[in-house]
Amino acid sequence: MIGRLNHVAIAVPDLEAGTALYRDTLGATVSAPQALAEHGVTVVFVELPNTKIELLEPLGKDSPIAKFLTGNPAGGIHHICYEVDDILDARDRLKELGARILGDGEPKIGAHGKPVLFLHPKDFAGTLVELEQV
Ligand code: CO
Repeated sequence: MIGRLNHVAIAVPDLEAGTALYRDTLGATVSAPQALAEHGVTVVFVELPNTKIELLEPLGKDSPIAKFLTGNPAGGIHHICYEVDDILDARDRLKELGARILGDGEPKIGAHGKPVLFLHPKDFAGTLVELEQV
């Protein structure tokens, strides 16, 4: 069902500092920041040869990243994203197997302009999993 690793997302308290860490210290290419109000985050993409890293900073009061950073003030790995061919088919198969889909269960448009869903971490080895249709 799942295909390639699309990205690993890391929550950071300070996106400028996170960008400097990846661009200047680690020598990677980092995109300009993009505000995603629907997801409560501002994001930059770190382009690596085989995948991407997303750095997420909270945007707005109800940001899910803000809660995460309360427990992880220095930042930390927030979720991993796997690619699927058909997100509705993947969702329905996972629901049949008893997995919980976060939110209302309907795909939203993610940072790459493609439909995404999030799966409950308690059903996936303690890891928040994002599925993205590519
Ligand atoms: Co993501």
